[in-house]
Amino acid sequence: GNYGGPLRPQVHFSPPQGFMNDPNGMFVDADGLYHLYYQYNPTANRAGNQHWGHATSEDLFTWTNQQIALFPGGPEEGIFSGSIVIDGNNTSGFFPNQTNGVVAIYTLNTPESQTQDIAYSFDGGYTFTKYENNPVIDRNTNQFRDPKVFWYEETSRWVMVVAYPVDFEVGIFTSENLIDWQPESNFSHYGVTGLLYECPNLVPLPIENSTLTNDTQAWALLVSINPGAPLGGSITQYFLGSFNGTHFDPLDSRTRFTDFAKDNYAGQFFDNIPFGTRQVSMSWASNWQYTNVVPTDREGFRSAMSVAREHWIQDRPRVGLSLMSYPANISAAFDSELASNSSLGNGTLNVDFGQLESRALYWEANITGLGDSTSLQGTLNFTFSSSSTGEYVSGGTFISSGDVWVDRGHSSAWSNPFFTDKFSTSGLYDGAGTWRLSGIVDRSILEVYLNGGEEVATSVFFPTEPLDTAVFRVGGINESASASVAVWGLKAA
Ligand code: FRU
Repeated sequence: GNYGGPLRPQVHFSPPQGFMNDPNGMFVDADGLYHLYYQYNPTANRAGNQHWGHATSEDLFTWTNQQIALFPGGPEEGIFSGSIVIDGNNTSGFFPNQTNGVVAIYTLNTPESQTQDIAYSFDGGYTFTKYENNPVIDRNTNQFRDPKVFWYEETSRWVMVVAYPVDFEVGIFTSENLIDWQPESNFSHYGVTGLLYECPNLVPLPIENSTLTNDTQAWALLVSINPGAPLGGSITQYFLGSFNGTHFDPLDSRTRFTDFAKDNYAGQFFDNIPFGTRQVSMSWASNWQYTNVVPTDREGFRSAMSVAREHWIQDRPRVGLSLMSYPANISAAFDSELASNSSLGNGTLNVDFGQLESRALYWEANITGLGDSTSLQGTLNFTFSSSSTGEYVSGGTFISSGDVWVDRGHSSAWSNPFFTDKFSTSGLYDGAGTWRLSGIVDRSILEVYLNGGEEVATSVFFPTEPLDTAVFRVGGINESASASVAVWGLKAA
């Protein structure tokens, strides 16, 4: 693959060539190596002919492309989304002589049916053998897909969540050996249904600051919906609740989303990060409404993943328990600090990053000393632009209302009716004195985080020239408050 094109993200994973969608099979092995698989069409820049591509990383930023891991058995077959687990105790019987055997659990798609199939790997996830007695689950339907499996210690069972897309249903199955599966319960018609439920994930997350509950963890059930998201096309929603090994019980009936823009879909959590600690996911940074027509095909590929994000739960004023999302291990991508000002006050910081090879930045902008909520005022804005074409992406936040916005509508030679320009949501001041925006801009993708991950926007954009100028502007804050901004160049990974 040629990773040098002007739209090619430098710190976000993208496939060597061809089309990529959902992350699949994510796990971290005993040596700490992260494995990412993905829905992959190696032969065209659009969805179809689904394989599992594969890449590995030690730091979640520098990825090494590996050989394709799973191939369809013929032109009518697709290896659809799924997950991987390490079967260290040989529950499956495939691995009598090793502790690093892994099993992939995926959907085999044919025109007539969708079944859950498995494949095993003796070499820690590089090459796979399809199980001779597939499928392991067949419900006699062609709408049954995206198994995500994890080990549940309390019952010593494997647990699978899997979608019945057109029934708006998540099925929960359990197994002792990854081969024989028992249906246990169904979770259906919650939240925004759209026209399909896809790619469920179920994971426990630590509650890090709760005043509402003595619980130290809650389970998050993520369900991706497509089409029919509130902003069009596809998006991911989540539910918080409890899980007893067979049933998921939601805390409340609220609908919550993982993102306030529209390029966050089919996120998956890495397996084998110890439960009880923060968990890490990556999601597909695109939208089924336009993914097959975005202009990166002139550089021979389509789609990128979000950066890997850490997740935990925080109790937010009025909002209650919420999923937090923040780039994991971001400092591993730092090249050098490009600019910083720790006493900006009401002022502007200009950064020319035209000399930075990656043209990829991470920034943090902090307002501190805000005092009580009666005196909140001011704005914090950013713009990334091209000095030659004037194209830009921008965003910002109003401190008193808590509103935060992103605008990608001035960045494109490409036009598409579904390519929504502007996104916004609201945060809420928690009285701690600080208000904060940070994020990553990486050639054709922007990620924005409010207050360390309370709200997230993941947004692709397509300028005709790489951007080279950043402006951060703070206005109207009280004299008692202060502002700081720091900007790091990122390594082309
Ligand atoms: C979600 C999805 C999955 C399916 C895969 C096929 O984006 O539609 O439901 O397994 O993509 O590529």
